[in-house]
Amino acid sequence: MNKDKSSIILAIESSCDETAAAVLRDGDLLSNVIATQEVHAEYGGVVPELASREHQKNIVPVVDQALKQANVTRGDIDAIAFTKGPGLLGSLLVGTSFAKALSLGLNIPLIEINHMQAHVLAHFIDKSTSPKFPFLCLTVSGGHTQIVLVKSYFKMELVGQSIDDAAGEAFDKAAKILGLPYPGGPLIDKYAMTGDTKAFKFTKPKVPNLDFSFSGLKTGFMNFVKNGKENNPRFVEENLHDICASIQHTIIEILLDKLLLAAKQNNIDVIAIAGGVSANNGLRAALEQLAEDEKWELHVPKFEYCTDNAAMIGIAGYYKYAEEQFTDLSVIPQPRYAVDS
Ligand code: KG4
Ligand code: ZN
Repeated sequence: MNKDKSSIILAIESSCDETAAAVLRDGDLLSNVIATQEVHAEYGGVVPELASREHQKNIVPVVDQALKQANVTRGDIDAIAFTKGPGLLGSLLVGTSFAKALSLGLNIPLIEINHMQAHVLAHFIDKSTSPKFPFLCLTVSGGHTQIVLVKSYFKMELVGQSIDDAAGEAFDKAAKILGLPYPGGPLIDKYAMTGDTKAFKFTKPKVPNLDFSFSGLKTGFMNFVKNGKENNPRFVEENLHDICASIQHTIIEILLDKLLLAAKQNNIDVIAIAGGVSANNGLRAALEQLAEDEKWELHVPKFEYCTDNAAMIGIAGYYKYAEEQFTDLSVIPQPRYAVDS
């Protein structure tokens, strides 16, 4: 890495339903702005067409705000980093087109970033708490559930993943079944805090190796709520906190059983979590306990770096900039983009 090279990087994230921009100077975060799209709440999930339109509306003001907060002008920017994928094609197109146009207009390098690698690299935004390589990262988001063996900044090996729904999806779908708005994960987390984790029991899937499955749990949960309501129309209202605590507990157990196995199989005791679901208080508490029992060195990101943000795109961009890993204007978004590609 060329350590003498000073850099101001503008980073753009638009893979799903947050429009985000961040500015970094020499790898230090100067600003981190996120516009969360509220339009999806009433639909119980992200509506792709609405997400693209919101990105189009938000991207210019979000970038302007990020530059203003960082006290940086457009002319100061040395490179622009953007999310190439994975994500929703229409959403990715907005960020990609914006980044390409700015790169062309300002005549500065363009840096493509893999969103799943960026979730892992969020651990390097605050360098005082960064893990040493190699480490294992459990990345749990709305679209992915992965256990990644991180060997260096961009050398990541996928050792386990969900064969169907992601952990965040399991939270959001359970919330939807309970009649809660999207995204339901944070609400389940909130109600679970004052609920009994052992009030209700759900069957955990049996999946070989380090892979996960959450679709069976979703079906089981749907039937559980349906049966409960047949016996008592007020079943959900009367038991909301216990139901949330119990389903959350099951999701956490499924995640941590495999993480423990992965740590043993790979003989690694430096463990990190990333992605939106890593903001979950129950998961954080259970993981801290497990880390204490197993004597792991545990790395948990700050809440604002768990869910989608541009600071993580910027830090990934910083390491690519240092190695002059630039892309040209022929780049197109990649809705499916493996973490180890
Ligand atoms: O990483 P992220 O912001 O976006 C994707 O790349 O998918 O993750 C969003 C997911 C959603 O499913 C949301 O419900 C979940 O993260 N999430 C949570 C919490 N905060 C966000 N799930 C459980 N507990 C939370 N506190
Ligand atoms: Zn994400």
